[in-house]
Amino acid sequence: MRIQGAAALVTGGSRGLGAALGGALAREGARVAFVARGAAELEAVAQRIRAAGGEAHTLAGDVGDPRAASSLAGAAAALVGPIDLLVHGASTLGPVPLRLLLDTEAAELERALAVNLVGPFRLTRAVAGGMVLRGRGLVVHITSDASVVAYPRWGAYGVSKAAFDQLARVWAAELDGTGVRFLSVDPGEMDTRMHAEAVPEADPATLADPAAVAERIVALIRGSETFTSGARLDASAMVAAP
Ligand SMILES: NC(=O)c1ccc[n+]([C@@H]2O[C@H](COP(=O)([O-])OP(=O)(O)OC[C@H]3O[C@@H](n4cnc5c(N)ncnc54)[C@H](OP(=O)(O)O)[C@@H]3O)[C@@H](O)[C@H]2O)c1
Repeated sequence: MRIQGAAALVTGGSRGLGAALGGALAREGARVAFVARGAAELEAVAQRIRAAGGEAHTLAGDVGDPRAASSLAGAAAALVGPIDLLVHGASTLGPVPLRLLLDTEAAELERALAVNLVGPFRLTRAVAGGMVLRGRGLVVHITSDASVVAYPRWGAYGVSKAAFDQLARVWAAELDGTGVRFLSVDPGEMDTRMHAEAVPEADPATLADPAAVAERIVALIRGSETFTSGARLDASAMVAAP
């Protein structure tokens, strides 16, 4: 898809991959609306982008809040125009320290599903109708290898990401032929707050820089028409485009 001039809505935009990806999209000329709960952190990201000449807007909100989706979608469209690109980057690990399913409360699983699955579903529903009417749009699910590998202690997160992958596939099948496309992208292990919370003993030097991963994902977005809609891609296996 053409990123220059596109209207993008990026959740999880206040740090880590979402901040880097939104910044990379803005550098390529997209108008970007960022969502996260922490307004101050979000505004700092947007100010850095604006200082570099990009267009960035902030919307503080919790994607796990059932009332948030329609207001976030409406506000984003008012700020950047009808959404061409929706990136679901916000995510929760569930209970930390990560724990076995036997030690996981049902409410903790429900919260992981609310943020990682149901919230994105609501937001896509709020945006995809307009995309169908315009005959174009791309929705990117940021997933994880925990969606396909049954890592002990990653149960709430892994279950939510597995369903999230399937959600992208079913959206893709149902909207086939409309011009609205879906991709799931596994970014691989990155040096972010989420990773530090999940695996505090990890050596950051062994983890990817989210900025480098963001460049690879921008390349995937640019070439998104070459992939089957609903495909699950591994960003760590890709080479960044020039
Ligand atoms: N880091 C890794 O190694 C790794 C590996 C595989 C997949 N991923 C995936 O990559 C994505 C980005 O992760 P990251 O490592 O960059 O995490 P991160 O640095 O912790 O950033 C997470 C972002 O999501 C926002 N967020 C969290 N809960 C939210 C909620 N309920 N509503 C709105 N925003 C929320 C956070 O802001 P607030 O806290 O202010 O809301 C923050 O902007 C996630 O989908 C994650 O599952 C990461």
